[in-house]
This record gives sequence, structure tokens and C-alpha cells, in this order.
Amino acid sequence: MDEKPREKFLRVKDPRKMSTEELFSILLGHGSPSSNVYDLSSQISNFLRHKPIGSITTSDLEEFDGIGDVKAMQILSALELGRRYYDRSKKPELAEMDWDFADLKQADRQRGVHFFHHYTAKFIPQIPSRIIQYYAHRKSVVVDPFMGSGTTLVEANINGCHSFGLDTNPLAVKISKAKTMRLTKSILEEIDDFIFWLSNNHGVLYKPGEISMVDLYPDSGMWFRADVSQKIASILTVIKSYSPEVRNFLEVGLSNLLKGMSNARMDSVTPTLPASSIYIDRKHYNREVNNISRDIPVFRRMLSQVRRMREAILDFNTGKDETLICEPMMGDARKLSSFVDHCDLVITSPPYWSAQNYNNIHKLSMGLFGMETEIDQEIGQNGKSYLDDMNFVIMEIGKILKGHFAIVMGHDESKLTHDKLFQLITSNGFTPVETITRQISNQVSRAKQIKNEYIYIFEK
Ligand SMILES: C[S@@+](CC[C@H](N)C(=O)[O-])C[C@H]1O[C@@H](n2cnc3c(N)ncnc32)[C@H](O)[C@@H]1O
Repeated sequence: MDEKPREKFLRVKDPRKMSTEELFSILLGHGSPSSNVYDLSSQISNFLRHKPIGSITTSDLEEFDGIGDVKAMQILSALELGRRYYDRSKKPELAEMDWDFADLKQADRQRGVHFFHHYTAKFIPQIPSRIIQYYAHRKSVVVDPFMGSGTTLVEANINGCHSFGLDTNPLAVKISKAKTMRLTKSILEEIDDFIFWLSNNHGVLYKPGEISMVDLYPDSGMWFRADVSQKIASILTVIKSYSPEVRNFLEVGLSNLLKGMSNARMDSVTPTLPASSIYIDRKHYNREVNNISRDIPVFRRMLSQVRRMREAILDFNTGKDETLICEPMMGDARKLSSFVDHCDLVITSPPYWSAQNYNNIHKLSMGLFGMETEIDQEIGQNGKSYLDDMNFVIMEIGKILKGHFAIVMGHDESKLTHDKLFQLITSNGFTPVETITRQISNQVSRAKQIKNEYIYIFEK
């Protein structure tokens, strides 16, 4: 009856059919003067059950009677091999998934609170969500050092994780705060109060003249028609009376509508004035746009935006674990470790190398809210220091991360940013575990080009 572990292995021919104690017995070979091999194996497996694998040392194992340095090394080697092969066995699963999301409808790209505000180069939520579901656990700490509009933070929160994000752009922080706002009864009442005002005012201006758009935003005269300006000022006057959270939430809603209500060309991402008030919109079927006569229903658009935002934020908050921390912060990723001291997963997409100027792209909102990013803080603007700046950020991530780091980048033919960052990350001691290539169709471009994006996953 007393079948020895080795005999059992020869019989079953499959390690998965062996108990943990039996596997340890095979590894140890024999026991000690004080205990037989099976008891010694039980003691060791009990000890290991309660310790995180990476924290066990040879000295820990040498505490057991009968374990010398050679046996301790053999056990640690076996554990490490197991970990490596386990990770490798997970690998095809992620890479085999469809990351193109080619059939994703616009509504899914902007699902939940993600439609609150447009943002240049924002993730589709499906990317961080899938990575979080794969690599994080409940209450893991997820960080995005280049938070942008807070996509990672929202998805981390939905998936039961703590989340922290940094951005140097105040508009990014404003949007992320609105998308992750904790809803209370009084906050909901304030939002409903605003909706009530908007749905009952029938286009009447509120205290005209109290807030002047020109005072707020000296350039507003060229960007907005006078009637539109007055209505925006009216909304801002009402918004001013609410609590800071609700004010921020409603301002984000208004901000998202600004470009569409302005005189800026509809076919340009960066707000650009047309040469004349009547022009051809080349992005939308070459239709003619008349900025003097076109209907711009400011109140109606705001009402529809805020009603949708109310539903989405209510849904985002429903059934939420109240203890989860979700913190969008204004800060420089090169100083990440002074904001967050540890994390289990980093998901981010870095700023482009000298490409986007977020101040310019969002100039209507930033102008209206008196915001400015200090240009030397925005990585990418100074082309010469881009790789050094990114190296700082990667070192900072290395200081706080014990887990996985996913970085999402477009294929950059001219500067090979993706290759250079990959090399920087590995030279900072991160181990590559996964490279995912996805094809994206550029919806903004008229030519609808297809380009590649990479998701590199590393481990630290
Ligand atoms: C590609 S966007 C991130 C978009 C984001 N993944 C999203 O879904 O909205 C890069 C962001 O990096 C920010 N950024 C640039 N330099 C920074 C710095 N030194 N520290 C923190 N954020 C910075 C930019 O303001 C921008 O919001």
C-alpha cells in the first residue's frame, strides 16, 4: 500500500496527478535524521504556501533540518522554472486574442463614461480592460503615468482595482476627475437641478452679462458667434453655483461640445478658423458649412450631453466597492515615485515624439478655463530630450512596480520610437513577456489608412 512517490510517478506518468508533497519528495530524494522525506516535504510545502514566491531565500529553506545549500538551490530553481513555464503557457492566450477590434461600434469605443470628452490619442477602453483582467487581481494597484483622459483609471476601477494617474495637462486631469467622480445623493441632486434648469429655460439667458466670455477668454470673439457666446456664458453662470465636483463634471460636458459649436473648421482636429464664414467641410461629404446662419442649439446640446453623462456616471458608481481608491493627479511622470510608492500593473501610452501639442488641440477648452500646460513639462515637445525624458519615466516606473508594465505605441516609421522605447525599457531591467501587434484604421484620416500599433508587455 505504501507506494513511494517515485513509484507512483512511474505508474501515473503525469506530474499533474501527484500531490505537492509527493512532488517535493521526488525533488528532495531523502529525508533528514529527524523526519522522513514525506514529512519534510509537508513541512516545506506548508511553509511555501504562505510566502510570496519571489521572497523565499536559500537561508529560509536551510532552516529545515536536512536541507543544505545544494537542496535549497534545487528547490528555488524548480520554483523559478515552474513560474517561467507557467507564464510562458499563458502567453499564447493573450497574443491569440483579437486585438484589432475592427468590428467595434463607435458606441463601444466610447462606452460608459468614456464619451464624456474627446482626447487626442486616447485608448479604446477594451485595451486596458483586457490587460487588467489578465494581469491584475482584485485590489491590485494600477498606474498610468501618462493618464490623458483617464481611460486606464476608469477601467481599473470597473475591474475592482485601485488606480492612480498623472498628467501635466490640466484638461486631462479635469476630464479624468469627471469620469471617475464618486456619486453621492447630493451630487446627483445638483446634477438633476441643472438638468431641470436647462430643460425648463426654453432658451432664456440666465443673468446675461454676469459672466462675460471675453473676460474669461479674450479670443472667444473670433471662435464663437455672439449668440453662442451668450448662451455658453449663461451656462457657466449657472454652473458656478454648484459644488466643485459638480461644477467640474458640468464644465467637462460643456467643454466637449465647444469645438462643434464654434466657428472652427469641422474637418480639422486642431481648432482652425476657415478663410471665410462659408466653407466646404472636406471630412463630412464635402458639405457646405455656413458659420453665420447654421443652427447651433447650445442649450439643447448641453441638455442631451449632461443627461447622457448622468446615466453613465450613475452606472459607473452602481455597486462600486467604496474602498477602492481612484486618483487622477496633476503631475510629471518623471517624478512618478513621489506620487505613488508601489503598484502591481502599469498601463500607458506615451506622448508622441514632437507630434502633438495638447495645448493647441484643446485650445478652446483650455482658453475658456484659463488653463495652460507648462511646455517644458510636456514630454515630446522638446525633440532632443525625448528619449532622456522617457528614460526618467521608465526608471521611475522601475522604482514602484512589482508586476507588469504594458505600453501601447503606434508604429513610427520615421523615428522608430517604438523600437527605441522597447530597448530603453529592457535596458532598465524589465523583461519582455509579450508583443502584441494590432491593426487600427485611422478614422480621422480621409484616406482611412491602416496602421500598426504595438502593445509591449514587460515584467519587473
Ligand atoms: C497619448 S496621451 C495618453 C492618452 C490616454 N491613454 C487616454 O486614453 O486618454 C499622452 C499624455 O501624456 C501627457 N504627458 C506629456 N508629458 C507628460 C509628463 N511629463 N508627465 C505626465 N504626463 C505627460 C500628455 O498631456 C497626454 O495627455
